[in-house]
Amino acid sequence: MKPYISVVVKPTLFCNTDCSHCYHTPEERVPGNMSLDTVENLMRMVSEEYDAAWFIWHGGEPLTLPMSFYKGVIELEQKYFGKNSFRYGNTIQTNGLLLNRRLMAYCREKAINIGVSYEGPYNSILRQGDVEKSLNALSAKENKYSVGATICAETASKQAELYRYFRDKGTNLSLSPVIPAGCARCNGTVPDPDEFIKGSIEAFDEWLHDSESKIPLIPHYLYILNYLGDPTPSDCAHTSCLTKWLCVNPDGSLYPCAKACPQEFYMGNINSIGSISEAFQSEGFRRILLGSVKRREKCASCPIYRYCNGGCSMDAYHEGCLEDNGGDSCRIFREVFGHIATEIQSILDEKPDMSRYNPFVRDAILGKLVNPSSVMQ
Ligand SMILES: C[S@@+](CC[C@H](N)C(=O)[O-])C[C@H]1O[C@@H](n2cnc3c(N)ncnc32)[C@H](O)[C@@H]1O
Ligand code: SF4
Ligand code: SF4
Repeated sequence: MKPYISVVVKPTLFCNTDCSHCYHTPEERVPGNMSLDTVENLMRMVSEEYDAAWFIWHGGEPLTLPMSFYKGVIELEQKYFGKNSFRYGNTIQTNGLLLNRRLMAYCREKAINIGVSYEGPYNSILRQGDVEKSLNALSAKENKYSVGATICAETASKQAELYRYFRDKGTNLSLSPVIPAGCARCNGTVPDPDEFIKGSIEAFDEWLHDSESKIPLIPHYLYILNYLGDPTPSDCAHTSCLTKWLCVNPDGSLYPCAKACPQEFYMGNINSIGSISEAFQSEGFRRILLGSVKRREKCASCPIYRYCNGGCSMDAYHEGCLEDNGGDSCRIFREVFGHIATEIQSILDEKPDMSRYNPFVRDAILGKLVNPSSVMQ
C-alpha cells in the first residue's frame, strides 16, 4: 500500500455563475453530473492502493449537485475505507452561492471541510452573485469554512487588507494568483508578478508580527513549515505533486492536475482501468512527467530548488511551456519564499522574544528550537 493521495473530484463542470478569470471556459462548464457508479469505482481503487486519501470536491460548482449525491459519497467512503476510520477526508471547494444551514450542519456532522472561493470586499471584481447573502445566513456555529481568495490584477496590492478583513472574522485564508489559463488567458485578470509579490510580502509581514492572529495565512505558513523541514502535501506546487495528486472529471476521465489540464495529459478513465497505478503508467502521465523532469533539470542550479522542487507543472504549461522555468510562478515563489526564509532564518539565529510573533510561527519555531536536529543547516 502507498501512504497517501489527494484526489480532486469534479462531480460536474457545470457552474451556476461565470467568473471572469475561470480556467474552465463557458464552453467547458456544461451540465452533466458524475454518477455514483463512477464514485464507487474511484473509492474502490483508491482504497485498494492507498492507506489514506483526501477527496476535494471541486468543479464546476460542486454544490449544484444535490445533498443526496454527497450522502451517497460518504456511504461509499465508509464502505471502502471503513466507517469512522481515519483513512479518508473530504473538502468541498465552492463558490458559496448555494451554501445553507442544512448543508453546513451535514458537513459538520460528517467532518467535511468547506472552502469558499471569496475575496471579501473585492468579490465582485471576478465573481457574480450575492455570496454574502448565503454566508450571512449561517449562524456563528455554522460559520466554519476557510476562504480561498484568488488574487487578480486589481487586488494584487490589497492582500494585506484581505488578511486583516478575514483575520477579524477568524476565517482561515489562502491567497493565490490568477494564472493565465482558460478565460484568464487574455482578459487582463492575471496580476502583474511584481505587484503580486509586493502584496504577498506585505500580507506576510503583517501576519508574522500579528501576535493576536488566530489564522494560519496560506501559502505563507506552508512555506515556513517547508523551510523548517516539514513540507506538507497541501502545498502541491512545491512538493513534487506528480503521483501524489489525481483529478477526476464527471465522466471518470483522469488527469494529473485540476488546473484545466489539457487532453494531452489524459490518464485514462476510472471506469475502464483496473487500478490507480495503471493511470500513472499511461502515455498522458508519462508526457507530463518527462516535461517536468526536463524543467527540473533546468532548475538544478537554483539555490531554493530543495524547497521548490521545480514548481507547478500546470503553471509552467499555462505560462508558456511545461519544460521551462522562469515564468511568473517561478519568480513569485523565488521572491516570496526568499523573503520568508530570510525572516525565519533571522529568528532562528537571533532567538528574539517570540511573543512578538503570531502563534503559528511561534509554535513552528519553538518546535524546531526544541528539536534542533531538524532545523535547517
Ligand atoms: C475552478 S473553481 C471550482 C470550484 C468552485 N466553483 C469554486 O469557485 O470554488 C476552484 C478555484 O479555482 C480558482 N480559479 C479558477 N480559475 C483560475 C485561474 N485562472 N487562476 C487561478 N485560480 C483560478 C477559483 O477562483 C476557485 O477558487
Ligand atoms: S471559478 Fe468556480 S465559481 Fe467561478 S466560474 Fe469557475 S467553476 Fe464557477
Ligand atoms: S524557483 Fe524557479 S528556478 Fe527555482 S526551483 Fe523553483 S521553478 Fe526552478
